[in-house]
Amino acid sequence: MRNIRVQFGPVIANDAVDFAVRPGEIHALLGENGAGKTTLMRILAGLLQPQAGEVLIDGKPVHLASALDAQAHGIGMVHQHFMLIPTMTVAENISIGLPGVRRWFPRLGDLAREITAFGKARGLEIDANALAGSLSVAGQQRAEILKALYRGSKILILDEPTAVLTPQEATGLFEVLRALAASGTAIIFISHKLHEVMAVTDRITVLRRGKVAASFTTRDTNEREVARAMVGADVTLPQLDEPANQNAAPILDLSGITLRDDRGLTRLDDVSLTIRSGEIVGIAGVDGNGQQELAETVVGLRRAEAGAISIDGKPLAAAPVADRIAAGLAHIPEDRHRTAIFSPMSIAENAASETIGAAPLSRSGLIDNGALRANAQSIVDNFDVRCSGIEQPIGELSGGNQQKVVLGRAMSRDPRVVVAVQPTRGLDIGATAFLHNQLLESRRKGAAVMLVSTELDEILALSDRIAVMFKGRIIGIIARKDVTMEKLGLMLAGESA
Ligand SMILES: Nc1ncnc2c1ncn2[C@@H]1O[C@H](COP(=O)(O)OP(=O)(O)OP(=O)(O)O)[C@@H](O)[C@H]1O
Ligand SMILES: [Mg+2]
Repeated sequence: MRNIRVQFGPVIANDAVDFAVRPGEIHALLGENGAGKTTLMRILAGLLQPQAGEVLIDGKPVHLASALDAQAHGIGMVHQHFMLIPTMTVAENISIGLPGVRRWFPRLGDLAREITAFGKARGLEIDANALAGSLSVAGQQRAEILKALYRGSKILILDEPTAVLTPQEATGLFEVLRALAASGTAIIFISHKLHEVMAVTDRITVLRRGKVAASFTTRDTNEREVARAMVGADVTLPQLDEPANQNAAPILDLSGITLRDDRGLTRLDDVSLTIRSGEIVGIAGVDGNGQQELAETVVGLRRAEAGAISIDGKPLAAAPVADRIAAGLAHIPEDRHRTAIFSPMSIAENAASETIGAAPLSRSGLIDNGALRANAQSIVDNFDVRCSGIEQPIGELSGGNQQKVVLGRAMSRDPRVVVAVQPTRGLDIGATAFLHNQLLESRRKGAAVMLVSTELDEILALSDRIAVMFKGRIIGIIARKDVTMEKLGLMLAGESA
């Protein structure tokens, strides 16, 4: 890609960008939220036309007017936000736009079997007969990767593929990527997790505010140097230092929570947990052991079959979401793009959406526009949301900047209880440091914080206690001072404390 320029209104997303990737290499494309990574890759995937510059493949200029053009040139992209059609099966999703699809359709059963086997051979376990919408976030990501691979891409673009994978799944993906690279595929890998970048890539290109800021050969650099190139300064993540007050009042109290899913399977099994004022409890576990369900039950998106939930002694197990928000609960959901924002509406409207009905945003049933704007502006300022203004539709922001609005919305109203699920997923290193500081600040102000994360580093840095979940149960709770990696590792694998 040569001299690429893309401008959206006043924002120059790509400014004279040169970028090259070779066959057989895994090439990291890095940069802060809003640096222009996704934009550059959308050009390569035929989804966006640059205002200037050209794309060459094997030395020849190509015109990539559509995704089909890009596919014809062997370019496949796995997007930051999933593009699967939820009401179709994985096999159907993969077969859309595939040459010979009419021939295939009557034999979709065969195709599904073939795709399942194709995935399995590459370490991507998936049931191609499953409806895309029924898959977990990680499952949908696997389907997206499989879709690109199955179409025989020679240039594979992965926009933050590991953001939604567990560390184990990510390790599996890296094996897949290494094998693909070894067979000559060029892989472009976008990630905010520098340890992954150091482990899996051959070269690194860093974008900063739309320009190429640096490029490295991975084995000749280190995380610190790369982070500095991205941000322009050194960044250190905060750590919890002083111990929690053991005698503080309990705020969030869960007892005997049991939950079954639609198929009658037990997802939460007699879960009890108390979080005190000024305490962060990390919920650790291999993805899919009930952490997500626990968070959703606490915030009221699922109704427990048995058990009690209270905040400050007020029973809330049967209360609707709005009552829980009124009781001081803030929720940072896992799949923020799908569940937490409404793309066509403005930043200001999205920032107000949870609390629009009450003071200070409304008075006597009327929306106070000044308060609404001030609220959004303070979130934009505090969270360093890169945007052209609070009236911009949130869907136009980069992935990480959309996240910052959701985080700001949850954290800006001084919550009593924070339920944060994978809160730094998709955030750059500066925004991660900021969010960690926000959680610590809530703790200092006496909130009870439930931090669900598959990132052990994050859990270890911030938690007063760590509750480990396995198959829907809390199998042990370890105090910060007693944590060892070995103990944690055993418990994650299901061994009780
Ligand atoms: N369709 C659009 N309309 C207006 N502005 C846009 C549009 N798409 C991207 N932008 C802007 O271009 C800039 C670069 O966005 P891009 O999505 O490429 O960032 P990114 O590096 O992928 O960030 P992230 O790590 O958060 O995903 C941002 O300022 C974004 O708001
Ligand atoms: Mg992006």
